[in-house]
Amino acid sequence: MASVLTHAVALVALAALANAHLSPYFYDNVCPQALPTIRNGVRAALRREARLGPSILRLSFHDCFVNGCDGSVLLDDNGSFVGEKTAFPNVNSLRGFEVIDDIKEAVNQVCNGNVVSCADILVAAARDSVVEVNSLAVFFLEKNKVIKAFLMEASTKYL
Ligand code: HEM
Repeated sequence: MASVLTHAVALVALAALANAHLSPYFYDNVCPQALPTIRNGVRAALRREARLGPSILRLSFHDCFVNGCDGSVLLDDNGSFVGEKTAFPNVNSLRGFEVIDDIKEAVNQVCNGNVVSCADILVAAARDSVVEVNSLAVFFLEKNKVIKAFLMEASTKYL
C-alpha cells in the first residue's frame, strides 16, 4: 500500500513538473518568429496542394504513435540505423516530409540557428494544417451557399 502511495505521489509530482515546463507561449521569448514562420510554411504548402494539410496531420499522428511525439518519423535510414520512414504503415504512404524540411530550414533562418525542435515544428504544423483546412472548407461551404441561393433564385424566376 505504501509503495502504491509513493508511486501516486511521485506521479503527481512528475505531472506538476511536466506542466511547469510546457507552455504554448514558450517560443514567444525564445524565437517570436518561429510559430508565424511555421504557419506561413503550412499556408504556402496548402496553396501548392490542399491535400498536404491532411497529410501533415497524419504525419504527426504517425510520429506520436511510436514512442511519443519526438520527431522520430522524420529520420532517414542510414547504414547503421533503420528508422520509421520505411516501416510497413509508413513506407510509400506518409507524405509531406519535404514541407517539414522546408519549414525547418526557414525556422532555423529566422531563429538564427537550431532553436526549435523538429518535433515541435511537426506538431505546430499539424495544428496549423487543421486550422487552414478548416478555413478552406468554410470558404467553399460559404461559396456553395451563394451558388445554391443563385440557382434557387434562377430556378424560381426562369423555370
Ligand atoms: C490506428 C488507427 C488508424 C489507422 C489504422 C489508419 C489508417 C489509415 C490508412 C490506411 C490511410 C490511407 C493511407 C494511404 O492512402 O496510403 C489513412 C489516411 C489518413 N489518416 Fe489514418 N489511420 C488511423 C488513425 C488516424 C488518426 C488518429 C488520424 C488523425 C489524427 C488519421 C488521419 C489520417 C489522414 C488525415 C489520412 C489521409 C492522409 C492523406 O491524404 O495524405 N488517421 N489512415
